[in-house]
Amino acid sequence: MAYPKVLETVGGSLGWDFGAVWEESFDPRGFVRCAATWCADEGRHGDFAATSRKTALPPGAGLPGRVWSNSAPAWITDVQADPNFPRAEAAVAAGLHAAFCFPIRTARGVVGAIEFMTSSLKEPDDELLATTESLGSQIGQFVERSRAEASMREREARHGGILESALDCIITIDHNGRVLEFNSAAERTFGYQADEIVSREMVEMIVPPSLRDQHRAGLARYLDTGDPRILGQRLEITGMRADGTEFPVELTITRIPLPGPPAFTGFVRDITERKEAERDLRASRVRLLGAQNEERRRLERNLHDGAQQRLVSLALTLRLARDGLPEQDGSTLELIERAQEELQLALDELRELARGIHPAVLTERGLAPALEGVAARSAVPVELSAMPERRLPEPIEAAVYYVVCEALVNIAKHANASAARVSLAEEDGQIVVEVGDDGAGGADAAEGSGLRGLADRVEALDGGLVLMSEASGTTLRATIPLP
Ligand SMILES: Nc1ncnc2c1ncn2[C@@H]1O[C@H](COP(=O)(O)OP(=O)(O)O)[C@@H](O)[C@H]1O
Ligand SMILES: [Mg+2]
Repeated sequence: MAYPKVLETVGGSLGWDFGAVWEESFDPRGFVRCAATWCADEGRHGDFAATSRKTALPPGAGLPGRVWSNSAPAWITDVQADPNFPRAEAAVAAGLHAAFCFPIRTARGVVGAIEFMTSSLKEPDDELLATTESLGSQIGQFVERSRAEASMREREARHGGILESALDCIITIDHNGRVLEFNSAAERTFGYQADEIVSREMVEMIVPPSLRDQHRAGLARYLDTGDPRILGQRLEITGMRADGTEFPVELTITRIPLPGPPAFTGFVRDITERKEAERDLRASRVRLLGAQNEERRRLERNLHDGAQQRLVSLALTLRLARDGLPEQDGSTLELIERAQEELQLALDELRELARGIHPAVLTERGLAPALEGVAARSAVPVELSAMPERRLPEPIEAAVYYVVCEALVNIAKHANASAARVSLAEEDGQIVVEVGDDGAGGADAAEGSGLRGLADRVEALDGGLVLMSEASGTTLRATIPLP
């Protein structure tokens, strides 16, 4: 603060010996405290200045306290003889007599007081006191300006501190795409020092060559149309380090709301680790699915080659036994025929069970015949549109099969529909399977486990499952990319 300068200028030109600035101190009792002092002769008045700087006065006390509470200038011919001057003893020691004091005024009111003292006795000088009115206001304006500047500097320092300690890269560019600001996290992540990159074109420095034109076009489009399409969105894009290596980043762009040409701030986060974790997770889901499919196939083979074969040969044996029985043994014949019927039911159930675990027809002949079988067994009539003839990778065929099975079971169980349709198509390198019904709607994946399990299966293959359910019916669509 430039108070001492002000005191020296005013005090020196008046030819007085001592000056002090008093400011309100943040004390609930409302003290004024000495904030700065000036002495024409440090040797003679230094001690008085030191005493003053240690002094705080309540409203009405001493000269500054009186000026403070009356908001008006005041004059004392001899402070040593004044009954309301707490520093009288120090004034005696310093040989100071006359004093005057006036308020520092701002638009907010009185914010302090300025005091001058001299070694001689002086009667009040009305002209001088009158000029302190305007002097007090000028000093007040000056104080306000200095305070505003100081708080601005403080804010800047605070913002700078936030910028530097942020974990995210914070990069600001102007409307030409040139870097204005590049924080410490950005330096660490991209491998540039701020001064190497500030005022360079951002795109040229941290965007891979193949994506630069796209970025430039994006900025140009925004400046042209003001279309805020990407502002505030979280984008996943590719960044480039100083050494040319590329890595995945998450980017959010905001426009700095200031008048003048636009500037933009990007918050950038290195998501290499997250991407790797996602990849690992996906890979492990695919492995799990593979293991599950394999296990289902093994069970189905065991049932087919084991239990089923035994029951079939038991059926043969029973037929032989029945054929060899003499005509007249009616009750034994009846028993054997009942056993044959029971056995046929057991075989049918076993075959159905094996098909549910893993349909052999899917492995052997592919999706089209497998789904024709499912459609034929469905309780609700199914219209099956053309199926691709070619075989798809095994996990994809299995996923499509289970989507159709679950959807048709759901339709039979929940939809109250009169018909269902199943379609399967290859579009843009993806397989799209759709199962619809004309039922009551109201399907909700959160209500059960079947749809959730399907979504897991499809997502493990990088695909997606969409459920649309309205009063006019329900459609389940799975999209799986083909390798
Ligand atoms: N096609 C459909 N029509 C009407 N409701 C359905 C249909 N499919 C599913 N739902 C509803 O959505 C819920 C979730 O389905 P799902 O996850 O398969 O569980 P669930 O084991 O009950 O079949 C079901 O409980 C049912 O209420
Ligand atoms: Mg279900």
